[in-house]
Amino acid sequence: MFKQSQKIKKWARADYARTIALFALHTAILFLIFVFAAFIESNYDFSAMLGLVFSSQNIEITIYIVIALVLASVGMFLYFYSEHRDFIRFGKNVNLLFIIVEISIVVMYLVGHFISVYARPFALCALLALLLINRRTAIFLNTVVCILMFMADIFVANSFAGNVQYYSALVICYTTSLFAIYLVYGLRSRLLVFVMGFAIAVPVIICCISLEFSDFVVAPTKYILFGLTSGLLSVTLMMALLPFFEKIFSVITDYRLAEITDHKSTLIKELISHAPGTFNHSLVVSTLAESCANAIGENALLARACAYYHDIGKLKQPQFFTENQQGYNPHNELSPELSTDIIRSHAKDGYDLILKYHLPQMLADVALQHHGTLPIRYFYVKALKYTEGELDIANYSYPGPKPQSKIAAIIMIADGAEAKVRTLSDRSHPKVDAAVREIIEERMNFDQFSECELTMRDIDIIRATITNSLAGVYHDRVAYPKLKFGGNKN
Ligand SMILES: [Fe+2]
Ligand SMILES: [Fe+2]
Repeated sequence: MFKQSQKIKKWARADYARTIALFALHTAILFLIFVFAAFIESNYDFSAMLGLVFSSQNIEITIYIVIALVLASVGMFLYFYSEHRDFIRFGKNVNLLFIIVEISIVVMYLVGHFISVYARPFALCALLALLLINRRTAIFLNTVVCILMFMADIFVANSFAGNVQYYSALVICYTTSLFAIYLVYGLRSRLLVFVMGFAIAVPVIICCISLEFSDFVVAPTKYILFGLTSGLLSVTLMMALLPFFEKIFSVITDYRLAEITDHKSTLIKELISHAPGTFNHSLVVSTLAESCANAIGENALLARACAYYHDIGKLKQPQFFTENQQGYNPHNELSPELSTDIIRSHAKDGYDLILKYHLPQMLADVALQHHGTLPIRYFYVKALKYTEGELDIANYSYPGPKPQSKIAAIIMIADGAEAKVRTLSDRSHPKVDAAVREIIEERMNFDQFSECELTMRDIDIIRATITNSLAGVYHDRVAYPKLKFGGNKN
């Protein structure tokens, strides 16, 4: 899901040109969709379609529709420019918005034409926008689609009066979609969303009863079936289209994130059985990362998923990492150079493994960046003992890149803080606080946050969040008094 960035970037002239050009292009595509609908309405007769659209007695409606389409697009642009500017700065996002609208209108028209206006998948656009972008956009885009669909109906009916069903469809589309947004928002299981298809049918049926009462009394089953078709078609089409959008627009939906962090997913299962220490560490880092992301307005579920996979590269040689060792340490038999090579390769190995399993690119990027260009201090110090003179610290450091996103920076801090606090014998709040501060300062001294947009305020919030969480996890326990059995008979 897309989250509005707190800091809105200033637009360059190229941003305006690209965004306005895309809005114009998609307005033209929408008009062509209307013409396509007119072609179907004319029984696939091209000259009849031309008569319907361009004849002197019908041209008035065509001109009206073109102007209305342009105004609707301008309205859309102004809404997003004032409310969601960072989002439409990217051409890919503008295309995403319009393709959702275009697909919804085509499908709604076809179902209306071949089955019934009341069986249209009214909630399709709202659900796609909800899952791929966010709730606010879903509500706005739903209004746009209701109006555009009504315009398409006027256009193909070639009359402003039109069919009374089109006015009913406008009301049903608006109410049903809002109801669907309310029902589906926050659901994490695809199965539950599918079940919601039945619930989405309810407002359609209620609207049908009120708008077509006399006909409903005669044939209630027909309207109940239309309602069910509408609800189930909305959720089924949405589920079928989601993977297409996820792939083409590189959007990671909450469902995908829930699936890949499931303990039954392939790589997580591997981690649990072959590197249990790393898995437990990743679990704590995921809790910290989720809280931090929430606190600074980043995508918490995405941060959680990135934390689950940040050390997945350790699967290649788990026994070389402290958290998976039980007594025996193979590094004792290796040179510091070789140990450094093994340790630092886990970032790149993780990157490769994540992509090999077709997991989202963001997860791979975070795995690669979570140690930035930090030195592997332990082996650097060990190497110094065997060397007289200077040693280049770069040879004992991770190759980078440094964190490129706020989420990668969160994982870097949470990762270091968890490992550091685990080694403390005294985990009281002040000690944890000092340890977390030390981790952050060290990373700042090595200039690790210069390539992401992390602000000092974000760092402060992250520090407080991690300290509170870790002090909570490892809170002081009351020492249990030792019991002596059989010694005291009084
Ligand atoms: Fe790591
Ligand atoms: Fe880690």
